[in-house]
Amino acid sequence: MSGARESVHGMWSGRFAFILAATGAAVGLGNIWKFPYIMGENGGGAFVLVYLLCIVLIGIPVMMSEVLIGRRGRQSPGLSVKTLAQEASASPRWQIAGWSGLVASYLILSFYAVVAGWALAYVIKTARGDFQGAGAEAIGAQFGAHLANPWVLMAWSAVILFVTVYVVGRGVHKGLEKAVNFLMPSLFVLLGIMAIYSATNGALGEAVAFMFTPDFSKLTINGVLLALGHAFFTLSLASGAMIIYGAYLPSNVSIAKTSMLIALVDTAVAMLAGLAIYPLVFQYGLTPAEGPGLIFVTLPIAFGSMPFGTFFGTLFFVMLVFAAFTSAIAMIESTVAWLVERKGLSRFTATAATGGSLWLLGLLTVFSFSGASWATFELTVFGKPITSFFEVVDYLTSAIMLPLGGLVIAVFTGWVMKKKITEEELQTSALMYGIWRFAIRWFTPVAVAIVFLHLIGVLDRLLRLLGL
Ligand code: TRP
Repeated sequence: MSGARESVHGMWSGRFAFILAATGAAVGLGNIWKFPYIMGENGGGAFVLVYLLCIVLIGIPVMMSEVLIGRRGRQSPGLSVKTLAQEASASPRWQIAGWSGLVASYLILSFYAVVAGWALAYVIKTARGDFQGAGAEAIGAQFGAHLANPWVLMAWSAVILFVTVYVVGRGVHKGLEKAVNFLMPSLFVLLGIMAIYSATNGALGEAVAFMFTPDFSKLTINGVLLALGHAFFTLSLASGAMIIYGAYLPSNVSIAKTSMLIALVDTAVAMLAGLAIYPLVFQYGLTPAEGPGLIFVTLPIAFGSMPFGTFFGTLFFVMLVFAAFTSAIAMIESTVAWLVERKGLSRFTATAATGGSLWLLGLLTVFSFSGASWATFELTVFGKPITSFFEVVDYLTSAIMLPLGGLVIAVFTGWVMKKKITEEELQTSALMYGIWRFAIRWFTPVAVAIVFLHLIGVLDRLLRLLGL
């Protein structure tokens, strides 16, 4: 049925290409850079548990909804949702669900490219042996010096964006698909080697205890919101990607099965990344609550003193760059697709223009980390301190836009789209369909609403009113 509309951008060559590309979008800095440090900042085990629950109960159903929207709409996220809203005789306003995704991935990429740039710079530093025999202080100072120079950060993020533009400019089939075919298998091999190395040579027991023993006294409401937001972030949900990648998905592929597989691989990678990083953190007496610098200041210390450290260190950062890159191409794709559809630009011009503007927007992040006075400040949002433009963009996207966007997508596919159409698109067993529909109609909206009401203090007041 979905074959009724066609994508003007081309299609994946099949199920496997989609799985690689979507897994490439999902697996990224979120798994290897962000997950370990926010887990560390939020107390470990309890955070991991909430995060896993969010993936299963909310993430997978929302992913199915997005792929469904994309495949039926066959256009960039905003226009796909708009088309389906028309089909359901509903208000065209629902298209906000798609546009907010497009905007979120654009904003995310502005800082993502900068962080991917650090990873690229660290490939060279590690390969050159900069960390050999250097102590914790010297390595911390190196990272500080790296961040302090905005020119260097701008140059590296330009390299990342340039390659992204080159690959995405070549199109779905010749660009994106070709890149993920090579990068994803390499990433899995590299990660496997790293995890085996640190599990056998690091403090595995402590790492496992830290990651899997929940201590709820360490979890705050902001921690719950972060876990929820991160579940969306890591699966690339509510950021257009699954809609646009779904738009290139052949009609005969099972959305339910592939979504579960993608979520499973993404979660496995996050856990493996934790198990590759934390044994070294504990082995070398480093601190889990280090923040965004975690893997850049802790791991090089381990790489600098372990046998074959130059080799494993270089491997690690290469892997990080690969993971980031397959996400970057997914993040830019929605905007590019829209510019091609509606603004009549050629694919190449659209990509180059988007990449250039992203580089400029990325300056906010660059100057946040270099500590420019205009980019750093002190704000408190819902009890959480926010101290730079980077944190504003990060919090605005991950903690606010993604959960709310997911909520709208859930309501749209669960309550607004006709049941017959979602059934037709998902092509799954009655049981699976029933579970999906229940989750999307009730679970996601209620869970997101509760977290937000709590965050803005309404829930507490309500409970007090009820005498609870
Ligand atoms: N999932 C990516 C990661 O874990 C980050 C991400 C969020 C993303 N939204 C996206 C990637 C949209 C591609 C497209 O690193």
